[in-house]
Amino acid sequence: MKVLGIIGSPRKKGNTDILVSEVLNGIDMSGSQIISTIEKIYLDDFKLLPCKVCGKCKTTGQCVQQDDFNIVFQKIKEANVIVFGSPVYCKTVTAQVKILIDRIDSSQIIVSHIPDGKTTFSRRIRDKKKGIIICISDLSVLDIVRQSAEVMKCLFRDLNIEVIDEILANKLSKKGDVLKNKTLLQQAFEIGMNLCEKVSI
Ligand SMILES: Cc1cc2nc3c(=O)[nH]c(=O)nc-3n(C[C@H](O)[C@H](O)[C@H](O)COP(=O)(O)O)c2cc1C
Repeated sequence: MKVLGIIGSPRKKGNTDILVSEVLNGIDMSGSQIISTIEKIYLDDFKLLPCKVCGKCKTTGQCVQQDDFNIVFQKIKEANVIVFGSPVYCKTVTAQVKILIDRIDSSQIIVSHIPDGKTTFSRRIRDKKKGIIICISDLSVLDIVRQSAEVMKCLFRDLNIEVIDEILANKLSKKGDVLKNKTLLQQAFEIGMNLCEKVSI
């Protein structure tokens, strides 16, 4: 089983990075034989351009943008478990996360208009994956964090990824603030430790 951690914050070693890494540590420390690889990527390390709604991907599944989307998407396709983290920026996810979600939504959902006027949606990807959402903020109330996590779940919905755990937290401001919150760190680590009990390939 392949695990992929996706950091949506541009701040390396920031609060999102620390929490996603703690989940990945927990998975690693569980020592489960079913885990083959654990990888962590920062979306900000990749060139990801926004969707232009040109519609080309509707027939081909391929985007016309010349960037790193296919590298990131290949990693997502190969993973069985995704640990997806974003901080709240201006009451929603970061720009890096939103671009990835829009690109996947455009290219991976097939919209069909059938003669009786109904619209149906189907996914290009049908294999089942599991996912964990981590969404954090500073002053925003937890309802805003939850709303941002709902945006993150659009990616999971489009890729047939079942949410098995989530961490929603606020009052995290400066880089590394989360290191002072031992309860949150423990929660992240335990989610990782217990992952394999919840996942069967
Ligand atoms: C551009 C920008 C916008 C932000 N908007 C919000 C916001 O709307 N609500 C909030 O609570 N925190 C907001 N924050 C604060 C971050 O969510 C907070 O500092 C978080 O801990 C950053 O996570 P990181 O350390 O993983 O980067 C914003 C930060 C930045 C840089």
